[in-house]
Amino acid sequence: MTSRPYPDDLPRHVAVIMDGNGRWAEARGLSRSDGHRAGVDAVRRVVRAADDLGIPWLTLYAFSSENWNRPKAEVDTLMRLPEEYFEQELPEAIERGTRILTIGRRDRLPPHTRATVEDAVARTREGRGMNLVFGLSYGGRGELVEAARRMLRDQEMGRLNPEALDEKTFAAYLDEPEMPDVDLLIRTGGESRVSNFLLWKIAYAEILFSERMWPEFDRAHLEAALGDFRNRERRYGLTSAQVRSGE
Ligand code: IPE
Ligand code: IPE
Ligand code: MG
Repeated sequence: MTSRPYPDDLPRHVAVIMDGNGRWAEARGLSRSDGHRAGVDAVRRVVRAADDLGIPWLTLYAFSSENWNRPKAEVDTLMRLPEEYFEQELPEAIERGTRILTIGRRDRLPPHTRATVEDAVARTREGRGMNLVFGLSYGGRGELVEAARRMLRDQEMGRLNPEALDEKTFAAYLDEPEMPDVDLLIRTGGESRVSNFLLWKIAYAEILFSERMWPEFDRAHLEAALGDFRNRERRYGLTSAQVRSGE
């Protein structure tokens, strides 16, 4: 297998399903909330590492639309974490030029969470460094339905011609139109499933499932994932021979 030179094969967009906080905590006799707090520390490490490595887009699945069905106490803890995270990390994010974005239903977040998130987005809007996207109250199907709703409204107003609709026009209706397709999708926590994450943008993503629980994930694991990515051949429906000859 040919190993191509770094950083040519650096993914433009890495997306992470940060799973395993609860099991990590339970295995240590800790509460699930302790697990989520340890998960925030992993977010700090991985965000720094991704920025140091020059990854332009990093999307982290922090809370799914299905996670609302968890016990209220756990949901309440999770909804406090953005405050804990941004209180400590926002100055460094601004310093690094990181642009913070979110995907998902901000309108469903409690007011204190929403205010924190919107403040972080507003204060990093001019950032020209890494784009750091948090999936908050995010679900892939919900995002597609919202996109369809916006399209129907535009059609009604005469701003969208159904015959002209193509994949590019469709993608412009998604939550964060500037976000490129996912190149590398990482899921920690040992499960091999997508759990309603970024359904449109993972169409041709390379997927890496890790047995490691999210609170244990660090810079070295991210680097190993990038190494694995580098050695994959992305064929997009072509034959291997076509890809190698650069046809
Ligand atoms: C991921 O960890 C964090 C969220 C889904 C909010 P989990 O809380 O799902 O941890 P496990 O899967 O129960 O171990
Ligand atoms: C996926 O993890 C959602 C996040 C990491 C935020 P879950 O723990 O909710 O996924 P399932 O329920 O195991 O599929
Ligand atoms: Mg889980």
